[in-house]
Amino acid sequence: MKKLKAVVPATTANLGAGFDTFGLALSLYNEFEVEEYDGVVIETIPDNSLLKIPEKNLFVQVLKYACEKRGKTFHGAKVKQITNVPVARGLGSSATAIVAAILISTLVSKKQLTDELFFDIAYRFEPHPDNLLPAWKGGFITALLDNNKTYYQHLDFPEDIKAVVVIPDFELSTEKARAVLPENIPLKDGIFNLQRASLFISAVVNKRYDLLKIAMDDRFHQPYRKKLIPGFDDVVSNALEAGALGASLSGAGPTVLALATENFESIGNAMVEGFKKHNVKADYRVLEIDKKGATVEIIE
Ligand code: HSE
Repeated sequence: MKKLKAVVPATTANLGAGFDTFGLALSLYNEFEVEEYDGVVIETIPDNSLLKIPEKNLFVQVLKYACEKRGKTFHGAKVKQITNVPVARGLGSSATAIVAAILISTLVSKKQLTDELFFDIAYRFEPHPDNLLPAWKGGFITALLDNNKTYYQHLDFPEDIKAVVVIPDFELSTEKARAVLPENIPLKDGIFNLQRASLFISAVVNKRYDLLKIAMDDRFHQPYRKKLIPGFDDVVSNALEAGALGASLSGAGPTVLALATENFESIGNAMVEGFKKHNVKADYRVLEIDKKGATVEIIE
């Protein structure tokens, strides 16, 4: 019997001013192994009783939907899910499950995966191309959804930049982090973000790292979301003082991201201290930018 395996990277969306637009893949991976089976059996590493319930397991739900969309009846699966991307922390854990399930269903059906089909399935479960696309394709992506069509571009991200992600020990759902956002943004804040997001792209293309600090500032989401993240301002300013090129909330948070070319450990420690000052425990990880994106293969 065939055993298939998908490996999908974590992602960090927004990067400050690029709210709902920019996303970057990181070298931290969730793994999903699947064998055909009658009924659903789920093994989770580390052990997670919630993920073992098929109805609560996003990967299984998407796999079922994607197989049926391909005209294949889903009889069940034996699933082994290795979770390294922390859940509900702004590192794209849901996107890893969605992308893995779509790629596995594609390999099973032996048909081609078009962008149209990918988004048709993926958006039923998560409407954020800024997470889905880097998880699928790797690297840095700028994306938008217009009239049911997704437009995106991939950009080479400088290889000497690494991501220091500081992950606090509490969860924050994207739903909750979106609920605090205002319905309307003043024009001056729109201009503020437009200027910075454009500068960010140019700074990356031209390797003008000195511009990243100002380019990663934001008025669309961070000023509202930081009320849900004790210590956010201190964590960002500690990162910059310790030598980060720029820092922002990772996705909807609560993880904070710093980009850097050196001093990774001292930046990580300084950011952890920023959280500690506000009685929040946190751990940091130094990650490369993933360029490969998701992979899927037959392993047995
Ligand atoms: N851009 C989205 C947000 C990412 O910040 O809400 C959610 O994963």
